[in-house]
Amino acid sequence: MRKIVKSGTIVTDSHVFRGDVMIEGEKIRAVGTGFDEEGAEILDASGKYVFPGAVDVHTHMDLQAGKYRAADDFYDGTVAAACGGTTTIVDHMAFGPKGCSLWHQVEEYHRIADGKAVIDYGFHGVIQHVDASVLKEMGEIAGKEGITSFKAYMTYDFMLKDDGLFQVLKQAKEDGIVIAVHCENDGVINYLRRHYIENGCTEPKYHPLSRPAGCEAEAVGRMLHLAAMAQDAPLYIVHLSSRAGLLEVTKARRNGQKNFAAETCPQYLTLTDGLYQDPQEGLKAIMSPPLRKKEDNEALWGALRDNILDTVATDHCPFCFGKEKQAGAEDFTACPNGAPGVEERFRVMYSEGVAKGRITLHQFVKYLCTNPARMYGLYPQKGAILPGADADLVIFDPAKRRILTHADMHGAADYTCYEGLPAEGDIDLVMQRGNVIAENNRFLGSRGAGRYLRRGKSILA
Ligand code: URP
Ligand code: ZN
Repeated sequence: MRKIVKSGTIVTDSHVFRGDVMIEGEKIRAVGTGFDEEGAEILDASGKYVFPGAVDVHTHMDLQAGKYRAADDFYDGTVAAACGGTTTIVDHMAFGPKGCSLWHQVEEYHRIADGKAVIDYGFHGVIQHVDASVLKEMGEIAGKEGITSFKAYMTYDFMLKDDGLFQVLKQAKEDGIVIAVHCENDGVINYLRRHYIENGCTEPKYHPLSRPAGCEAEAVGRMLHLAAMAQDAPLYIVHLSSRAGLLEVTKARRNGQKNFAAETCPQYLTLTDGLYQDPQEGLKAIMSPPLRKKEDNEALWGALRDNILDTVATDHCPFCFGKEKQAGAEDFTACPNGAPGVEERFRVMYSEGVAKGRITLHQFVKYLCTNPARMYGLYPQKGAILPGADADLVIFDPAKRRILTHADMHGAADYTCYEGLPAEGDIDLVMQRGNVIAENNRFLGSRGAGRYLRRGKSILA
């Protein structure tokens, strides 16, 4: 059946124009005006924006983190994503058992995602130790599975040290793979965490003090140098949170370093470490890196405005406030790290970004849709309104208003960090591959309808 999304204001990362999108089956067939409407289903988008379905390249569905499991599995989490205008995720795998092969988590993630996800999904691999077989498996997995990116951590139990990171980068350069890195200085963090707890400083307000911005900046700078020494190996810095970290990115750009990108998240643009002052409420925002200061928010908005950053993802990693998060009530270091965000991103970024004049409509699409797809080998199938692309669209009404509240959300967590935020504009309809999967905040898709995405090469590789 043909569908025509009619008379909308179509927004891409480079153009805004009034027009129609003609859809045949799962694909966009044409973009223009004056299409033959005979026999077609018409979706009226007049007065509305038509955006590409958003792509969130940093989620942690069903994550096992130590003794805790994230609240959202691939069903709940992707229903939340769909209702929030996100039609594709690329999920970061949890660590597997010590010493496991890279294939172990690939197989595990197919087991936990397949048949559950309601939107299209891919995986980033995870590298938790380095040896000859791991290095060989990177290319094998990229070729056989279309997993063309792997994540490494500079902190946590299965962190890589510099020699491991360097070997992985060299291999990635050879194989055309992107290495996504969580950049924080492990030694300083561990010292500070111990120091605070030993001195009875156990409340959430010590969480940001135990992971200062300097830890991020040092690790971002070191990682950029390692990538430069590996012949500008493809590097993607996840969840940049601080002005200090941003300065390292800016410096590398000025020095002409190639093949790297940096992501930030709505929480680092809109929330501050003031939230940690309340010993209970503060638990909701325990995440790594932590929330920073207003100056950091402003610096990151400035970097989006100036096109210094590349993407806005969520690091969606929800735990329930009434349950798992309470593990941190007596000791912030015992709190599982992470917060929900996949459903909130689109509305928060439109309202706080576009409506407040901090970013343009094009930048909104670039950071939430097009660049994430480009970075991770999904463009132009995803993130684009072009003939031949998947018919993943969001019809958005800029005249509507919504107060964000957990009561209207669809994930399994019991809170949102944005409770009470007045959001300008709202999502009318979300379409995935030509099917309406959400309308007026109601989920209309079906369990297991999401498809696994074998990704191609990143523009960084
Ligand atoms: O606190 C967070 N972000 N938890 C998820 C794991 C990670 O560090 O990305
Ligand atoms: Zn993460």
